[in-house]
Amino acid sequence: MNLILMGLPGAGKGTQAEQIVENYNIPHISTGDMFRAAMSEGTELGLKAKSFMDQGQLVPDEVTIGIVRERLGKDDCKKGFLLDGFPRTVAQAEALEVMLSDLERTLDYVLHIHVDQSLLLDRLTGRRICKNCGATYHLIFNPPANEGVCDKCGGELYQRADDNAETVGNRLEVNTKQMKPLLDFYQAKGYLRTIDGEQEIDQVYVNIDELLKGLNK
Ligand code: AP5
Ligand code: ZN
Repeated sequence: MNLILMGLPGAGKGTQAEQIVENYNIPHISTGDMFRAAMSEGTELGLKAKSFMDQGQLVPDEVTIGIVRERLGKDDCKKGFLLDGFPRTVAQAEALEVMLSDLERTLDYVLHIHVDQSLLLDRLTGRRICKNCGATYHLIFNPPANEGVCDKCGGELYQRADDNAETVGNRLEVNTKQMKPLLDFYQAKGYLRTIDGEQEIDQVYVNIDELLKGLNK
């Protein structure tokens, strides 16, 4: 199963990815998570990415394409993969075509989680994440049973550095601009499936799962 999850910041990519990778046993490849891991390790990649992420800008294509190429070449991707947050530009999508053709693989679906931009500021500023296991919560839409504590592992919840109102505004602007040409790119290739991301979290997953079950038949 070779999948891409697409959607504006806060559309629910990470939330849905948690369930998809658990149920279908494929690696979750999130470029945002990879950059954040590099930042907390203080590597050169992390330092480079930080300056862009703090501003809500995209990390340059050549950097992002390089880390995805390396990751897709790893053994665990032989059984499939879920790309989350990549590609985000047509140049990245074109580079991915080359990578997949080198690996003799083809995409199954590009799952586009659609949410109107007006809903995303609240989703992002209310998001909280578990320091320990990475599970995602929302203060209002998906609160943990005990404030500040992860239901799954008891870990402490924190707010992402780029989830403040100002940076969120930039992220939404930058990503909205890139989205249309990317959707056109995958629509033309026949991979695009759009899912209504304004429903309850569990219902969004039901819709995704219906598509994925069809692939396993
Ligand atoms: P990245 O980490 O990918 O962030 P993003 O795209 O901004 O997306 P998010 O992770 O913020 O949102 P999400 O869709 O996963 O939402 P979530 O499920 O958490 O990228 C960060 C940065 O890294 C970028 O800005 C860029 O600088 C850089 N970068 C990454 N990839 C790059 C690339 N390819 N090229 C260049 N630069 C790149 O949900 C959000 C909140 O809503 C949560 O609180 C959740 O609980 C809640 N929620 C989810 N679903 C629902 C629902 N159905 N109803 C109500 N609430 C919901
Ligand atoms: Zn946890």
